[in-house]
Amino acid sequence: MKFFIDTADVKEIREAASYGLLDGVTTNPTLIARTGKPFHTVIKEICEVVDGPISAEVTSIDFEGMKREAGELAEIHENIVVKIPLIMEGLKCVRWCFENNIDTNVTLCFSPTQALLAAKAGATYISPFVGRLDDISHEGMDLVAQIIEIYNAYDYETEVLVASVRHPLHVVEAARMGADVCTMPFSVINQLVKHPLTDLGLAKFMEDWKKVPK
Ligand code: G3P
Repeated sequence: MKFFIDTADVKEIREAASYGLLDGVTTNPTLIARTGKPFHTVIKEICEVVDGPISAEVTSIDFEGMKREAGELAEIHENIVVKIPLIMEGLKCVRWCFENNIDTNVTLCFSPTQALLAAKAGATYISPFVGRLDDISHEGMDLVAQIIEIYNAYDYETEVLVASVRHPLHVVEAARMGADVCTMPFSVINQLVKHPLTDLGLAKFMEDWKKVPK
């Protein structure tokens, strides 16, 4: 399973990249706004840090506007993946990107029918938002299972990118289901390595090591 980081904070991205486990980056308008910097400046900075797919989201909600933005974003760097919301105008843009060899990440997916449409339109990635479904008492990971089942049934090439991840259990479930990608906040990436028995065991080894004659 590929690991993407879900942030626009270049410091966090740099740190996560230093672990040697990072395959890509996803951003959204909210994450960009938190940086306080202009959109294209942040995206260019991220492209210098990570050599992998970098999702940058359009903010138009009409086909013509999205098409223009998609073209501009794709010009920034060859690793740019244009992130497009799952509305009908967005699907038209996904199809246009597919025909123009621009990679896409279809975002704000909350249902299997939406995911089916995205695959038919030629999306590179589909982003089911599991945490936001959990927030409204729907099983977010059930959606991921349904999408994987549908995509496997028809051999769709669209990759399932689990998004809106809130905790390590989302990552475990995504991996068990065979999701292609999991995008995680920096905090969740760091949680994955932690186990209290590892810390206790290491402390004991360090303590005992002191007793070994030098
Ligand atoms: O990048 C999209 C997604 O991961 C957002 O997550 O936590 O705002 O629902 P969240």
